[in-house]
Formats: sequence, structure tokens, C-alpha cells
Amino acid sequence: MLNSIAEAKGYVKVAMKCESTNKQKARKLYLLASACYLEKSKKESNLLHEQMAHYLFAKAQALKKRQHKANLPDSTKEIKPYINLKIGFDDICGLMEAKQKIKEKIIYPFEKPEIYNIYKKKAGGGILFWGPPGCGKTILAEATAKEAKAVFFNIKINDVLSKWVGESEKTIANIFQNARKQASVIFFDELDALGTQRDGEENSFTRRLTNTILSQIDGIGTKDSKILLIGATNSPWNIDNALRRPGRFDEIIFVGTPNKDARKKIIQLQLRQKPISEDIDYDAIVENTKEFSGADIVALCDDAVNIPLREALEGKAIRNINFNDFLTALKNRKTSIKIWYQKAREELTKTNNQDLFREVFEHGN
Ligand SMILES: Nc1ncnc2c1ncn2[C@@H]1O[C@H](COP(=O)(O)OP(=O)(O)OP(=O)(O)O)[C@@H](O)[C@H]1O
Ligand SMILES: [Mg+2]
Repeated sequence: MLNSIAEAKGYVKVAMKCESTNKQKARKLYLLASACYLEKSKKESNLLHEQMAHYLFAKAQALKKRQHKANLPDSTKEIKPYINLKIGFDDICGLMEAKQKIKEKIIYPFEKPEIYNIYKKKAGGGILFWGPPGCGKTILAEATAKEAKAVFFNIKINDVLSKWVGESEKTIANIFQNARKQASVIFFDELDALGTQRDGEENSFTRRLTNTILSQIDGIGTKDSKILLIGATNSPWNIDNALRRPGRFDEIIFVGTPNKDARKKIIQLQLRQKPISEDIDYDAIVENTKEFSGADIVALCDDAVNIPLREALEGKAIRNINFNDFLTALKNRKTSIKIWYQKAREELTKTNNQDLFREVFEHGN
């Protein structure tokens, strides 16, 4: 019988323990406990007990929802698009050439099809971003969606390969179907995950996934020109050639190490709205971060900001972030992408593909 609060507490204790292993049992126990509290609250007009009853009931309801979701087959867990995107081209420092190419290749044909039509320029096809890690491929893809006033589907190929085994065709088909409903950018990240495995041992799963993606891309057609395609990779030389044919990822854009101006802008963006001292010598920092990726510079700024922050937390005087903080931070930060350039050069020299990806030899020294 439902009577004592002690009994209810016992239920809650067990429910909390088995919440992750046996949701059904946990849910029942929370409901029992909730009923105990409710009965007691009525008998004694105790508001706290009533609140507790509501709280436990909500916990049981939440478990019901989670349980329902966990039981769904994988294919129904669709990839949702990002809307209300925050990052635009102005938030991306440097990469001027890349931005211009993106505009001409996908944003303008998308916004002004009639002008492209006059010059009989065909819209369509996608862009492949390639380059070292942390230099802006993902944020550039997101910003492209914002500039094109589109929603953004972010698909990590490795996730599709691991999470949607056996369901990948449906998952990809669902994404394209959803994308057709509105202006959309579909971003395929880690595209090389398809190619490398195909080159080696025959892998029927990656082959099927590649074919599914190819047939969906080929099916876009002009009537669906509201779908923009972007791919990204750190190793384009591993990408299946079929993905690079006309109408597919047929424009390739190098997203490389930020230049002087871009590095300065990234630092300024990172320090925006933070208390900074006038002594910060941006040019000196820029000189000392020659081979840094964008992400490395963000991390460096974070390290510098942490110094006065930590001091303040320890009870010292609150002060502005100064140049010395950057000098201290610089002692512990090195480029993380030198190794990428080295490996890429080795690989391209070995396979005699230096001319195809010459940016690897021209940048990152
Ligand atoms: N050009 C840039 N302008 C402004 N911020 C940048 C730039 N490049 C990199 N960043 C910063 O570095 C972070 C990482 O960038 P991003 O995720 O786009 O790199 P990526 O090229 O996609 O790397 P990966 O190959 O590892 O996926 C961004 O969130 C941003 O803070
Ligand atoms: Mg990325």
C-alpha cells in the first residue's frame, strides 16, 4: 500500500540506481514514489510533498520519452538541419579567394539564376574544401549556408559509417528529401573516409554508401537547385575520383594556413568585448604565429585570457589582458599543423602528385 514517505524515498533510491540500466523499472518506481508523496500531501496539505510528487512524475515522464526514442529503429533518427546560423563570411578571417569562388560557384547561381541563364552558365555541382585541420573548412561551409540564407545539414561520413550501418541509404535519402523542402546546404565532412577504404580492401559497405551519395547527388537536377553541396577533407588525394566528376564535387578549394592579416583579425575577433591592455603588439604576435592554424590561434588567445582570469579567481587584482600574457602563452603553444604539411608532402611526392595539390608545397613552411 502507498503510505509512507520513507517508502517513497526507498523507491527513489532504487530508481536512481537503475535509471540507465533499466528505464522501465526506474519509471515505475518514480511513479510509485510520486503517488506516495501525492497521497501524503493531500492528507497533510503539505505543499512540499505535492511539489515532490510533481517532480517525480516529470522524471517518470521523461524516462518514458527517452525509452521511446531508444527503441526506435536507427533510420528514423534523422539528421536535422541547423537553422538560425550564427557564423557569416565576416566572421571568417582571410580566405578571400575561397569566399569569392564560393559566391560565384554556388551563392550567386542560387540567388540570381536569371543572370546565369543569360550567359548560359549552368548552375549545379558542388565544392570540395581541402586543407590542414583547424583552418576553417567547417566554419566556411556553415557560413556559406548563412550567406545563401539556407539551412545547414552537417553530415560526418564517419558517423554515417559507424552509426547507421545497414541504414545509411535510408539516412542519406532522408537528408536529401528533407533538403528539398527548403534552401539547403548539405555538407559532407570527412569525405576521404569513403575513398581510403575503397582503395584498400574491397569494402562493400563504403562502396554502397558512396554509390548512394553519388546517385542522390546526380538526382538533384536543376529543378532542385536549392540544394548546395559542399564536401571537406584533409586528404583529397584519398577521395574516390567518381566524387570529383562534373556535377558532383567539381570545384576544389584549398583552405590553408591563415596569412598575416587573417591571423591579426582572428586575434582581434577573439579579444572582442574582453578587457584588453593597450600594450598588445598584434604584429609581434602575428610574427610569432607564422605556421599556426586558425584553431591554434584561438587556443593561444584562450591561454592568454586565462592568465589574468586565473589570477582574479585566486583573489588577485582584476586586470586587463596584456602583451605579456601573450608572450607567456606563446611559450607553450606550437603549430599543430606542421605535421600535416610534412605528411601530405611525403604522400604526394611518393605518388608523384605534386602538381595536383601544389598548395601543400607553396604554404605552411
Ligand atoms: N579563417 C578563420 N577565421 C576565423 N576563425 C577561424 C579560421 N580558421 C579557423 N578558425 C577557428 O578555428 C576553429 C576550427 O575551424 P574549423 O572547424 O572550421 O576547421 P576545419 O578546417 O574544419 O578543421 P578539421 O579539418 O579538423 O575539420 C573555428 O571554430 C574557428 O574558431
Ligand atoms: Mg571540420
